[in-house]
Amino acid sequence: MKKFGMISVTALIASAAGAWAGELSVVCSAEQDWCDLMVSAFEEQNPDTDVLMVRKSTGETLAQIRAEAGNPKIDIWWGGTGDPHLIAAEEGLTQASGVDTGDLLGWAQNMAEISGGKTVGIYAGALGIAYNSDILEKKGIAAPQCWADLEDPRFEGEIQVANPNSSGTAYTELATFVQLFGEDEAMVKLAAVGKNVNSYTKSGSAPSKAAARGETGVSIGFMHDMVKLASQGFPLKIVAPCEGTGYEVGAVSIIEGARNPEGARKWVEFALSADVQSRAPEVGSFQVPSNSNAQVAPESPDLAAIKLIDYDFATYGSSETRERLLARWDAEVGDPNPQQ
Ligand code: F6P
Repeated sequence: MKKFGMISVTALIASAAGAWAGELSVVCSAEQDWCDLMVSAFEEQNPDTDVLMVRKSTGETLAQIRAEAGNPKIDIWWGGTGDPHLIAAEEGLTQASGVDTGDLLGWAQNMAEISGGKTVGIYAGALGIAYNSDILEKKGIAAPQCWADLEDPRFEGEIQVANPNSSGTAYTELATFVQLFGEDEAMVKLAAVGKNVNSYTKSGSAPSKAAARGETGVSIGFMHDMVKLASQGFPLKIVAPCEGTGYEVGAVSIIEGARNPEGARKWVEFALSADVQSRAPEVGSFQVPSNSNAQVAPESPDLAAIKLIDYDFATYGSSETRERLLARWDAEVGDPNPQQ
C-alpha cells in the first residue's frame, strides 16, 4: 500500500477545494518499479486521486478477485498475463471500460474482442530460456537451445521456473507446451523438466533474477525480464527455444463493482496512451507496447524475429481450460514444496 500517511491530509485539502476524486485501488501484476512509475505518473496527471497499489502475480490476483466477487476491494487490475484477465471477464468479474482502442495493435484489440471489451492488451512479450553463462561454463554444462534440452540430466537441480497456479508467466509456459506438443505429451515433458527444477517460485520473474545472481544455472520466463537483467550487467544469455515459443499479451481490466469506476476508466485511458507506454523503458521494462504510436525500446525483443506459435488466447484464456490444465499440472508435474 502506498502513501497511507499522506491520504488524510491530501484528502482534506482536495475535498475542501471540492475536487476530491477519491482513492483508486490498483493491483499491479507487472514489475514493482514499473508499478511505482505508473502510480506516480497517474497521480501527477490526476492530483485529486490517491492510488493505493499492491503488486501481486497474475494467478494470485485472479484468486483474490474471485474471492472478493460481490464485495470487491480493487478498482483496477493492471498488468499480468492476459489469460487470467480473459478468465475474469468470462466469469463476470470485470466490466467493459468503453475506452477507445483505435490506436492499439491487433494483438491488443484481440483481447478486447474476445472479452466483449472487458480487458484490453497493454504490452506483449515472448517466453524463453535464460542461462548464467559463468555458472554453466564453470560446471562444464552445454547451453540449452531447445525446450527438449531442459529434460536432459545435465541440468539436474539447475532449472528454476514459477508455479503456474500463482504465476501468469508459468501458466503461459504450460499453455505453450500444450500448444507445441499436445496436452498429454506436454505433461510428460513438463514432468521430465520438473526432475531438473530446484524450485517453483510464486512470481514469474523471480527465476531469471535467481539465474542472474548465480543461484540457479537456468531459468524459464519472459525474455523482456531477462533483457532487463542482462542490461544491468548480469551474465545472462537469452535463448529463443528451437521448437518455437509462446507469448503473453499483458492486459488491464476494470473490476466489476469497482468503487471508483470513473477513476478506473481514467486509468485505462492513461495506461493505453502512447506517452505513458513509452515510459516503461525508464525502469527497464522492455515489453512491446500495445499503442501503435508508443516508442519501442531498442532493447525490446523483436517478436517478428522469434519463432512464435499462434497462441490461442480464446482457448487458453478460458476458465475451463485453465482449471483442467492446472489440475493436470498439480497431479502429473507438481510442486513438491509449494510456497505459501
Ligand atoms: O512485469 C514482468 C512480467 O513478466 C510481465 O510481463 C508479466 O505480465 C508479469 O510479469 C507476469 O508475472 P507473474 O508471472 O508473476 O504473474
